[in-house]
Amino acid sequence: MNILVTGGAGFIGSHTLIELYKAGHTAVVVDNLANSNPESLKRVAELIGGGVTIPFHEVDVRDRAKLTQVLQQYQFDACIHFAGLKAVGESVAKPWEYYENNINGTLVLVDCMRQNGCKNIIFSSSATVYGDPAMIPITEQCPKGHCTNPYGQTKSMLEEILMDMQKADPEWNIVLLRYFNPIGAHPSGRIGEDPKGIPNNLMPYITQVAVGKRPELGVFGNDYDTHDGTGVRDYIHVVDLARGHVKALQAIGSQCGLAIYNLGTGHGYSVLDLVKAFERANNITIPYSIKARRAGDIATCYSDPAKAERELGWVAEYGVDEMCRDAWNWQKNNPEGYAK
Ligand code: NAD
Ligand code: UD1
Repeated sequence: MNILVTGGAGFIGSHTLIELYKAGHTAVVVDNLANSNPESLKRVAELIGGGVTIPFHEVDVRDRAKLTQVLQQYQFDACIHFAGLKAVGESVAKPWEYYENNINGTLVLVDCMRQNGCKNIIFSSSATVYGDPAMIPITEQCPKGHCTNPYGQTKSMLEEILMDMQKADPEWNIVLLRYFNPIGAHPSGRIGEDPKGIPNNLMPYITQVAVGKRPELGVFGNDYDTHDGTGVRDYIHVVDLARGHVKALQAIGSQCGLAIYNLGTGHGYSVLDLVKAFERANNITIPYSIKARRAGDIATCYSDPAKAERELGWVAEYGVDEMCRDAWNWQKNNPEGYAK
């Protein structure tokens, strides 16, 4: 298939491009580079090899005219829609910018798609739509919960919008992928997560402590109702997550209508479990101290990924040691991310 990949220069998009080409698909990338560096795409092409060039258009998905040009220049079988802003704390400070970028961007994209004859989309959603989950492990049947921040609201609202569109026009095939906590990097160490400023998320913070950029990790709370008191999450290797998108194309190909899948491993690790796994896998000590809980955090969140296995034949293959090894391999080889 030929796939329009929005946000393809970003963390998950860049890894997905590699898996798409490995599976025999081709892609065109649209990204406004708001949170990425085109160097990622150069490295993706190197990793795919064989002289492949992936067409890249520096386009904002809210720009109807430019997006239409791209849709008319190529024939797309489907779109994988990663483009969006994703920093939870920033979304609390700049709610308008998050609603405008994420919601308006998706509305413009799907309108341009349907006007140009492409009604197949895979959407990057998040486990955040479950709020404080009503069940653990979380199946897709779990009711959606209250999102405590505008970023999470955009994901939940966009799910509703896309579901309504599919109901009204069954020609749409829409796959909502609810990611748990993507970490790690391509095993080559050439592409990975490149957060701007102080990382909000746990693994990039750990790797920046490991590389000496930050003195210690703050552990946000050790009084949760978990085995060691620290928050439990379902960390998933970004390469496994990327492969989940390739599998989701099968659902699109078989005219799934609407389909929703959790992409997680089904295993929960606490903050201290992850710190210990990182130390073990890489033989590095991570200094840390216990801090207050972070507003909006929940105790425990991990998936039941059985539906994706049953229906897509997808299962996460990498374990937490490989996630830690590959995250560190990327960070130590690229201490300044793509900037150097
Ligand atoms: P990322 O920031 O690395 O990638 C997103 C890309 O979208 C960036 O390259 C950015 O420049 C681009 N972009 C943003 N707004 C755009 C616009 N208006 N037009 C064109 N391009 C635009 O993030 P990521 O981690 O790769 O996440 C990809 C998607 O998955 C996002 O939608 C994110 O919300 C979602 N998601 C991510 C996580 C995670 O932990 N990384 C978890 C759940 C869901
Ligand atoms: C975050 C987002 C969520 C998004 C998800 C996937 C928040 C509040 N939520 O979830 O919307 O879908 O990423 O990427 O940001 N921790 C520390 N110290 C740190 C950083 C984190 O102790 O410096 C702890 C957190 O309290 C949590 C765990 O590590 O228990 C994981 O945190 P993080 O990586 O930010 O992911 P989530 O909070 O699960």
